[in-house]
Amino acid sequence: MKSSVYDCVILPLSKINNRAGNITIVEGNKNVPFEIKRLYYLYDIPGGEDRGGHAHKELHQLIIAASASFDVMLDDGTNKKIVTLNRPDYGLMIVPGIWRELMEFSSGSICLVLASEIYLAQDYIRGYDAFKSFKNGN
Ligand code: TYD
Repeated sequence: MKSSVYDCVILPLSKINNRAGNITIVEGNKNVPFEIKRLYYLYDIPGGEDRGGHAHKELHQLIIAASASFDVMLDDGTNKKIVTLNRPDYGLMIVPGIWRELMEFSSGSICLVLASEIYLAQDYIRGYDAFKSFKNGN
């Protein structure tokens, strides 16, 4: 699979400002380029813990720091890049075939994930060697 870390882009999301607070709206096939079939969020992450450590075969995701901040390390088997997420009105789109690790969670972080598919255990590639084989078409 040829997907690259450069296909994983930061998407600015709509933001309605109000003196009583802000609203950000995310709509599938409108401001994210896929249908949203599932939403989940990571929270209460102890300091120093990492998450992720896998890739997906088909899944597209939009990852948002709904609160506080964390880093996402992306790896396509050739190139790596680290993206810091720290604003609730920006999302990082991760395309299929990208190894990701989430780290450096600050206190109170909420990692909101919008996903293009329902949960399927067989869509995960959990070992880095298996990921490299997948990228090489094996
Ligand atoms: P996992 O995706 O491995 O977490 P992370 O990448 O954030 O470290 O999921 C952790 C556990 O939760 C794993 O046992 C699978 C389960 N899970 C579901 O049952 N449904 C879901 O939609 C998700 C995202 C995870």
